[in-house]
Amino acid sequence: MSIRIIGTGSALPEHQVTNDDLAQMVDTSDEWIKERTGIGCRRISTGEGVVSLAADACRKALEDGGMEASRVELLLVATCTPEKGIPCAACQVQERLGATEAVAFDLNAACAGFLFALHTACAYVEAGIYRNALVTGSEVLSKIVDWTDRSTCVLFGDGAGAVLVERCEEGGILAFVQHSDGTKGDVLRCDGRPLSNPYVDIPAEAPFVQMDGREVFAFAVRKVPASIEEALGKAGLQVEDVDLFVLHQANRRILEGIAKRLGADMGRFAMNLDRVGNMSSAAIPVLLDELNRAGRLKRGMKLVLAGFGAGLTYGTSVLQW
Ligand code: COA
Repeated sequence: MSIRIIGTGSALPEHQVTNDDLAQMVDTSDEWIKERTGIGCRRISTGEGVVSLAADACRKALEDGGMEASRVELLLVATCTPEKGIPCAACQVQERLGATEAVAFDLNAACAGFLFALHTACAYVEAGIYRNALVTGSEVLSKIVDWTDRSTCVLFGDGAGAVLVERCEEGGILAFVQHSDGTKGDVLRCDGRPLSNPYVDIPAEAPFVQMDGREVFAFAVRKVPASIEEALGKAGLQVEDVDLFVLHQANRRILEGIAKRLGADMGRFAMNLDRVGNMSSAAIPVLLDELNRAGRLKRGMKLVLAGFGAGLTYGTSVLQW
């Protein structure tokens, strides 16, 4: 028993920001950003929130999958940029959708969040606890980005993607692996609220994303191919058997490095980062939705989904569409 994706949806903020727009804000250029990252533009929220974007993406996934919200049994939102400390984003999305029977909670594994949420849904379904789930990745990273730091503000975008999954007897997720390495937590981080109460008041550091870009780059190019090979091995498949790689969209050069290590041609790597940048946990489900709506995903195709990010966290799903 496993889960298969029966519907996809996505939602992006209206406002588009080009590299030239950013060059008016910080000392950068369209040429530098494109050459080092492959990113051309991104969507940035001027009012859309993690909850409204996730709810929009979920509605589309439900419509695509032909399911009423009231039938959803599990609703997971992967996010590292929730609007509120409490209640969690998933409960707010549940309320907006009218998914009254769903158990709803958030999960934060940064850019690997959507994959970890998908695997959580898979484990619940395989355990016989739920029969279906809505799994969402939604981020408004623009609120935790330092817009004066050219080394990070050019990378990220806002958006949400969702998939509707249900139990299946054949196909679906064939194997998955996931890993965490908390010893490298400082490589990519964003501080939260400092401890402050009547007994202690610790001065806050800047609550913005801080990153050692080279370390993250090296980690991704080394660990992601290993996790893909590990998951393919569990599924009894080889790199040649994979029809499409749908990987976290952080940087085109990272994807090229991964493809090279796997000995796979770039033509099998789906990409949309040139248009939307790195949307953290939203990246994979938004890309999946674009591929699905473009008719590029045919039943029976073998897909590899792989994500990586802060934590450090990384993982891979091998699935049959
Ligand atoms: N525009 C122009 N110059 C920039 C710049 C920008 N937006 N950002 C950094 N630079 C400069 C640096 O200041 C540095 O200048 P210096 O040589 O005068 O000190 C120079 O470019 C090289 O910086 P470096 O950090 O070595 O560049 P890089 O080739 O490693 O590329 C990243 C930087 C961030 C694009 C790259 O490291 C990367 O993509 N890392 C992975 C990040 C990521 O994907 N994070 C999210 C993972 S989920």
